[in-house]
Amino acid sequence: MMAEKLWQGRFDQPTNKLVEEYSASIHFDSRLYRYDIEGSIAHCRMLAECKIITHDEASLIIENLGEIQREIERGKLQLESSQEDIHMAVEQRLIQKIGEVGGKLHTARSRNDQVCLDMRLYLRDVLCLTRTLLLDVQKTLVLLAEQNLDVIMPGYTHLQHAQPILLAHYLMAYYEMFERDDARMADCYGRTNVLPLGCAALAGTTFPINRELTAQYLGFPKISANSIDTVSDRDYLIEFNAAAAILMSHVSRMAEELILWSTSEFAFIDINDAFCTGSSIMPQKKNPDVPELMRGKSARVFGNLMSLLTLTKALPLAYNRDLQEDKEPVFDTADTVLNTLRLLAKLLPEIQFKRERMVEEARQGFILATDLADYLVHKGVPFRRAHHVVGQIVQTCIQNCKNLEDCTLDELKSFHKAFGPDVFALLDLANAVNQRTSAGGTATSRVEEAVRLARQVLQVKQERLDGKFIKTNGKI
Ligand code: ARG
Repeated sequence: MMAEKLWQGRFDQPTNKLVEEYSASIHFDSRLYRYDIEGSIAHCRMLAECKIITHDEASLIIENLGEIQREIERGKLQLESSQEDIHMAVEQRLIQKIGEVGGKLHTARSRNDQVCLDMRLYLRDVLCLTRTLLLDVQKTLVLLAEQNLDVIMPGYTHLQHAQPILLAHYLMAYYEMFERDDARMADCYGRTNVLPLGCAALAGTTFPINRELTAQYLGFPKISANSIDTVSDRDYLIEFNAAAAILMSHVSRMAEELILWSTSEFAFIDINDAFCTGSSIMPQKKNPDVPELMRGKSARVFGNLMSLLTLTKALPLAYNRDLQEDKEPVFDTADTVLNTLRLLAKLLPEIQFKRERMVEEARQGFILATDLADYLVHKGVPFRRAHHVVGQIVQTCIQNCKNLEDCTLDELKSFHKAFGPDVFALLDLANAVNQRTSAGGTATSRVEEAVRLARQVLQVKQERLDGKFIKTNGKI
């Protein structure tokens, strides 16, 4: 026989089957079971400490909550739509196991603050894991930068050859993006790490609870200030999704370049076979599906952000059932980001950079034109004038099908008398790179410095994060 609903009291009729199915969230919120039980145990301990229930009652409840967790983990507990959500499923099972006394657990609590607690506990783990995986990606990027400190490639603007850069400098650009992503995740963690429990339905409770104690049990450094705000607040979920969307936009940009670079037109990289797929019709194909999917999956994360914003934009205070719709977008975003980062850290070392091709390509496209103009500036020519002169030299070279370094001194002098024999030492890719010593520039010395600094930053982060992830075991 189906157990009666926990809120059945004021109803004459059983719930319509369609309504039951439409309103159930158990098929997606059951993944919160661990957090739900952890929260209930802390709540129960607090109730006993505050003498709202007895210590014996608390022990019995806590012991059985532990058993329910094991039942769920072993697949022994049937979770079905009639139970509505994970909160009711656990409570119902508790009452089934220990009778009336199980009904004391929900004293001074509502599902409205309970669901917020579960989501905050869950998100704390997601944020920690995201940061760990980001760290892995960053470490890989720094390692690749170190290994490619001497590789010169064309730098692009408008996807046209602009100036030569070090491949290491390019890789460190992504390191910086992920550094900001990490800071956003850390920032979000601070606002997530606040205890919502004890706000009850929306107005607080008449029982003499001690919210600080519950916070302490669950490792929250502070409790929320306003009960109405607390049960309707989903900012932390939106913030996470916004940070995740920006992160995915970075991954997507990198993915786009990996795809482009593996074309026969660019041929800058080769991705290991194990990370590529073939075509069912064209035998010659080796496709970069992994970066393509990374680029593609950014779309759903952006969409989830829009869902959450739209979900909350016109909600009157405080809790409304609409808010149940926050879970699937957040779970989907978390799963997508975690899986993407996990794979990205594995993919990066599988890329073979074709150094010769990169340098060869860097020689094309008058990439040293700025250096030639800068040379004139050093000889006292105003930059705007120098820019014009070099523009004319480039135009003539195009007409005569030759490169800047093929011009004779006399030819150069015919454009401007300031050109001297020392100009040829300058028309060299390595020289052009290493002249750019301004802070944040591509000179080897600067990139080495950036890599050194990054190593220190990553080391400190590793030490700080180390203790935090044991609980999740990498799986959420
Ligand atoms: N499943 C609900 C949710 O996800 C839990 C809170 C339900 N509260 C209520 N008053 N119906 O939001």
